[in-house]
Amino acid sequence: MKAIEIRNKYLNFFEKHGHKIIPSAPLIPENDPSVLFTTAGMQPLVPYLLGEKHPEGTRLTDYQKCVRTVDIDEVGDNRHLTYFEMLGNWSLGDYFKEESIQMSYDFLTKELNIPAEKLSVTCFAGDEDAPRDTVSAECWEKAGISKDRIYFFGKDDNWWIAGEEGPCGPDTEMFYDTGKPPCSENCNPSCDCGKYVEIWNNVFMEYFKSKDGKYSKLEQKNVDTGLGLERMAMLLQGKETPFDTEIFAPVMEKLEQLQKNDDINSRRIIAEHLRSSMMIICDGGRPSNIDRGYVLRRLIRRMIRHLNKLQISLDELPVLIELNINNLKEMYPDLEKNKEVIKSVIIEEKDKFVKTLTNGEKEFTKEMNKAIQNGEKQINGQVVFKLYDTYGFPPEVTKELAEENGFKVDLKEFDNLFKLHQEKSRLGSEQKFKGGLASTGEIETKYHTATHLLNAALKQVLGSHVHQRGSNITEERMRFDFSHDSKMTDEEKKQVEDLVNKYIQMAIPVERLEMKKDDAIAMGAEAMFLDKYGDIVTVYKIGDVSIELCGGPHVKNTSELGKFVIKKEESSSSGVRRIKAILTEN
Ligand code: SER
Repeated sequence: MKAIEIRNKYLNFFEKHGHKIIPSAPLIPENDPSVLFTTAGMQPLVPYLLGEKHPEGTRLTDYQKCVRTVDIDEVGDNRHLTYFEMLGNWSLGDYFKEESIQMSYDFLTKELNIPAEKLSVTCFAGDEDAPRDTVSAECWEKAGISKDRIYFFGKDDNWWIAGEEGPCGPDTEMFYDTGKPPCSENCNPSCDCGKYVEIWNNVFMEYFKSKDGKYSKLEQKNVDTGLGLERMAMLLQGKETPFDTEIFAPVMEKLEQLQKNDDINSRRIIAEHLRSSMMIICDGGRPSNIDRGYVLRRLIRRMIRHLNKLQISLDELPVLIELNINNLKEMYPDLEKNKEVIKSVIIEEKDKFVKTLTNGEKEFTKEMNKAIQNGEKQINGQVVFKLYDTYGFPPEVTKELAEENGFKVDLKEFDNLFKLHQEKSRLGSEQKFKGGLASTGEIETKYHTATHLLNAALKQVLGSHVHQRGSNITEERMRFDFSHDSKMTDEEKKQVEDLVNKYIQMAIPVERLEMKKDDAIAMGAEAMFLDKYGDIVTVYKIGDVSIELCGGPHVKNTSELGKFVIKKEESSSSGVRRIKAILTEN
């Protein structure tokens, strides 16, 4: 069964069971600089898991585009992916364990036709924070899983939380038995010998873990499930790796035709990173030296290094992109729409990297001459790391160049430094994920409302051509990008600032409305990405000043904002200006 058929079957199945199909949120979380990428289907739904009412109801289902970069350096083996699609269904205070488990069982055995004997499940064993989940185990048995294939494990295996703080709970995980012989007498779903492959995770989210490590009960009992699409396609097709499925196979084959050196890991890295980069660019990501942009840069550069490794001409990139888009456009029609942007961003980054490689070579020559002067015949690991870290110069290229010149390289020292660096960046990205998920703080909420007022004021002062093009909020400031061709005059800036402050002084209530998307548009509501919303939308209305499609959260009244001050107005990109502003106490 092809991946897209599995996706369609899934959404139809849950729709039949009363779920509303909601669109995938973008890979790049809006208004949330503290999270790098959307990493799970539940992430955009956190406010609703915490009790906010979702406009589409209490039963939802979707496919969610996800990027997880913690394992980026593992890509190339037979299973790791940075981009993947997660199918999910949610109960927001609606059904709980019994119905959730019955639906999962029916979907797996009746829709996907997986024999019940091929399934094993795990449940939470219980500890001081939450009881043993015998309810789930009983539900599984009742559904048709035999007792000897129901296992219990502790928090490490059967408890799910995103980061350190937030909604969480015991989970029950489903495993597919590949039929491989057990690795030992104790072989079970928690071991990673490859016999059991995890396919689905149902989290029974009825707890909230706070920063101090304490658990409390949520207002409502939720279900959050996640099924990895690529993995399921691989298993149902009887393939050994996701790269053998129709998602990657055409690109893998093309690479095999083009390569002059054979290396399956390199082919996987290229195919995987190309897909991830395309998806990130399609959702508005651009390469840069920090955060998300840096991840994208790394993905593209790593792909290029491996193209070089296989001795595939970089002029083949447009062909590979084209082929990938043709292959994936049925699953992601946006790829086709953004084809030209995707191509130009990747090619531009390739050109920059080629220059980097040239500069790196120069730097290498300098370092080699230094070593010669010191009478050394070795390039030490610190130099290899500096070339890698500062110039993006790959260690294997350093090694090659060194050996051509009769030098050795200390790759062991490099590896140590690299591991240290990796650990730091891993901690960094986990920190990021943790920070943004659980709550939008009071200050960020104020800034969020301020962006709506600013958007409205800009339209008043500059004209109706002004539309939001981006926004980024931290505790310290807001940044707002909007369509406008020329630099704002001081007079214009002052007018906009005064107008926002006037709206604040007017103490206008901020209303949250739910309505049909078409009605919202008819009312003139602003919307940045129309396609991403479902038929029923949440709209925030601030008196007669502003009306925007938006998920919130917002303050209750504009008077809460304090004083609005524009700090900077500058160009963001062609036809787009950027304002940085702050809110201060009155
Ligand atoms: N949030 C859970 C996961 O990511 C289930 O969707 O696995």
